This record gives sequence, C-alpha cells and structure tokens, in this order.
Amino acid sequence: MNVVTLDKIGKTYHLDAVSVPALVDINLEIRPNCFTVISGPSGSGKTTLLNLIGCIDQADSGEIKVAGQAVQELSDDALSDFRARHLGFIFQNFNLLPVLTVAENVEYPLLLSRTPAAERKRRVAALLEAVGIADKARNLPGQLSGGQRQRVAIARALAPAPNLVLADEPTANLDSHTGAAIIALMREMQREHHVSFVFSSHDAKVMAEADDAVLIRDGHIEDIVRGNLMEAAQ
Ligand SMILES: Nc1ncnc2c1ncn2[C@@H]1O[C@H](COP(=O)(O)OP(=O)(O)OP(=O)(O)O)[C@@H](O)[C@H]1O
Ligand SMILES: [Mg+2]
Repeated sequence: MNVVTLDKIGKTYHLDAVSVPALVDINLEIRPNCFTVISGPSGSGKTTLLNLIGCIDQADSGEIKVAGQAVQELSDDALSDFRARHLGFIFQNFNLLPVLTVAENVEYPLLLSRTPAAERKRRVAALLEAVGIADKARNLPGQLSGGQRQRVAIARALAPAPNLVLADEPTANLDSHTGAAIIALMREMQREHHVSFVFSSHDAKVMAEADDAVLIRDGHIEDIVRGNLMEAAQ
C-alpha cells in the first residue's frame, strides 16, 4: 500500500483579487519505506504539496490518503491525533522550542502521545545517539550550530515512530557540506527506522540520493522518476 495517495488534488490561493493556482490536478503515489524527493524551482508548489500531505493545509478539490487514511474525513481532533501518531516534520528553519533543551525538544512529541517516562528517556537517548548529538542533550537550541539543530529536528521527527516524515527544504539554511551530511543522515534514519521520508529541494542534484523523485513545475507534476525499485521492494 502507498504511504501517500493524491487523487486529482487542486489548491488555489486567493490574495485580494488575484488567484494563484498553486497545484493543479495532482495525481501522485508515494511508496512506503522510500526516500522521496519533491524537486522543482522556487514557486513551483513544493511547500503547498507537503503542507497538504502533512494535513497542515486543506486541498480545494481531490482526495488525499496518508497511511491508508482518507485524511479529509477526519474531524479536527481526530486529525491532530492522526498527525501526532503518523507524521513527523522537519522544517527549513528547524522550528525547535528555544526554552527547552535538546533532549526536551526530542521528548516533547512523546509527552503529547503520553508515552511512559522510562520509555521516553530511553527513546530520547537512543535517538540523540543515532543523530550524533548525545553530548548536546542539555544544551538549548540557541547554543547549537544550524547543522546540529537540524539533527535535533530529525530526532524529534522520529521520536513518535511515525509512518512518514515530511521535510520542507531541510538543507536550505545550511552550507552545502552540512546540507549533504543532513541528507545522508535522513537517508540513514529512513533505512534504519523503516519509515518513509518525503523532502523537498530546489536542488536537482539531490535526485541522485533519492529512491523516487517527483519533479514539479508551475503546480503540475512534470515527471516522476522511480529508482532503486529492487532495493525498495526488499
Ligand atoms: N499563502 C499564500 N498566499 C498566496 N499565494 C501563495 C501562498 N503560499 C504560496 N503561494 C503561491 O503559490 C505558489 C506555490 O508556492 P510554494 O510555496 O508551494 O512554492 P515552493 O515550490 O515551495 O517554492 P520555494 O522553493 O520558493 O519554497 C507560488 O506562486 C506562491 O507565490
Ligand atoms: Mg517552499
């Protein structure tokens, strides 16, 4: 089963008298346990697409299924619960809570899902170790470099053991060397945790790193390149 299915999705923004068709008739299937990149130029609709998949925003038309659930059928409460259980988010500007330590930021989604304390501590320690910042557990986000902050965000996104992690331009605020390390870490985590990752990038080079690449331009899907099919099927 696909982790995401979009069927004839449309989204238009209305600003004063101007209508901007951000996504037009999008049909897309995202395979589970894959590393999928949404690639396209600035303004092509990448963030809009990720926000719809992440249930942050609503489509005007069409159907969206995430992890088998038709998300548009859920009530507000059920949708919050669904997001907390099944989705993890990584943002361009890291979006860590500045007054919480690194460990507390990673623990936060586990508090929301009412995970018992001993299990929370164990998961946080294991994730900080996995992303290579166990020594910064008691630091505040403001005391970290950009690359370190994004490592915390990756650990936080994985904490509730989601089906799908969504990352909108996760390397946009990093230098190219650190950005490449973050992409490699996301890839490693995707494989180890058997989770699906969908991330956006305007950098066509990252296509080589992904299982599948979705090319988007002016709100339309221009091409879908499926790679590593044998490996992903295992
Ligand atoms: N809140 C909004 N109100 C009006 N128009 C919007 C809004 N958000 C996005 N748009 C427009 O929708 C289109 C798609 O925007 P989107 O942010 O999805 O592109 P993007 O591919 O993520 O671009 P970038 O690479 O610059 O992040 C653009 O034309 C943009 O100007
Ligand atoms: Mg964007």
